[in-house]
Amino acid sequence: MSLNVLLLGSGGREHALAWKLAQSPRLAKLWSAPGNAGTAALGENVDLRATDLDAVAALAAQVRADLVIVGPEDPLAAGVADRLAAEGVAVFGPTRATAEIECSKAFAKALMAEAGIATAAARAFDDPEAAKRYIRTLDAAPVVKADGLAAGKGVTVCASLDEAEAAVDRAMRERAFGAAGARVLIEERMSGPETSAHAFTDGVTVQHMPFSCDHKRALDGDAGPNTGGMGVYSPPGWLDDAVARQIEREVTERAVRALTAAGRPYRGVLYPGIMVTEQGPRVVEFNCRFGDPEAQALLPRLRSDLLTICEAVAHGRLSAVDVEWGVEATVGVVMTSGGYPGEHRTGFPINGLKDVDTGVQVFLAGARRDALGRLVTAGGRVLCVVASAATAAEARARAYDNVRRIAFEGAHYRTDIAARADQPVSAR
Ligand code: AMP
Ligand code: GLY
Repeated sequence: MSLNVLLLGSGGREHALAWKLAQSPRLAKLWSAPGNAGTAALGENVDLRATDLDAVAALAAQVRADLVIVGPEDPLAAGVADRLAAEGVAVFGPTRATAEIECSKAFAKALMAEAGIATAAARAFDDPEAAKRYIRTLDAAPVVKADGLAAGKGVTVCASLDEAEAAVDRAMRERAFGAAGARVLIEERMSGPETSAHAFTDGVTVQHMPFSCDHKRALDGDAGPNTGGMGVYSPPGWLDDAVARQIEREVTERAVRALTAAGRPYRGVLYPGIMVTEQGPRVVEFNCRFGDPEAQALLPRLRSDLLTICEAVAHGRLSAVDVEWGVEATVGVVMTSGGYPGEHRTGFPINGLKDVDTGVQVFLAGARRDALGRLVTAGGRVLCVVASAATAAEARARAYDNVRRIAFEGAHYRTDIAARADQPVSAR
């Protein structure tokens, strides 16, 4: 049976999802809301806010969607999966209560404590004075996190206790992250390389994806401010197989079981962010969706039919589906508008896409067609160039070779994406 699919979101992750879905012989038609210039080339975009549940439900009914796939966390936090399920539409993505594993850091910490999942010690505070009194009892500078969703910006990794107190004031008094800062977590600071674990799950069966790593800071050498992600590679050659299996069993599978036991069965992609510390792997955070840009490096390695996997997850039948991955390495380099993640200008023509090698994917994010039909910049992260090869070093060389053919005014990219993909942890 062929399916009408509605995909929610508008980033590079959604272009990658659309690109993979479009390879399915079972796809009848792909709708994206709101989508971007990349998804527009693979189906039809509908301009609506993915958090507007009435609009999403109306569109799903209008296009007779057989399956809705949710890319970002915001619509999940707003309850889009609950709403669509209530209307009898199959959804790939967890309910609002289950999505709390990302949307409430306090809920995630409590779940991890209950399930025996290793993570940084943390305490939650609703009162800034109490938080600051606690900070003054600490031996080492902590990490201060806004409890709610803050688009990746609510975390301050502090160098001193003074900085931690200032971070509490910024989140709780100045409300720099809005309502997300009504409660803060004061968390033990960990150290070690980070990796992203991803798995498809229907709440019972768990199908682990390969590991991947993003680069969050804006500038080479992990300098500059945090961003949505400047580049990605998969797999991390530095990640020990035994540690990888430990993460799968002791983090992802435990979390899925604990959520199901708590009456919050998971349907979608569960993505724990992991720090590999000297004491072993520890959870930094859980996400209730694909990472962006991780999806751009993972989906090109997927050999199985994404549509069939998502459909099986949505119907609780994942055990009946094979999920196979290629052994190649992928590297994705993000090109951004100048100034991102701060102020940046958009509307500049994007040139050179015609010169990109076949087999190299350019996933568009902040890009749109202007009135003349030209592709122009329309956001901070503009696109991600993804190359595959037998090794990370070759994939990296190929990605950068193609990045250099693409140009737009003010374009910025890091030059050290995946440079240490295969470097042993002991040398980092
Ligand atoms: P999050 O938004 O929770 O992913 O945090 C953003 C980044 O902050 C992470 O990718 C880490 O690099 C860093 N971070 C978060 N929590 C900790 C922690 N407890 N110790 C050290 N670094 C952290
Ligand atoms: N790559 C980080 C995230 O998607 O949250």
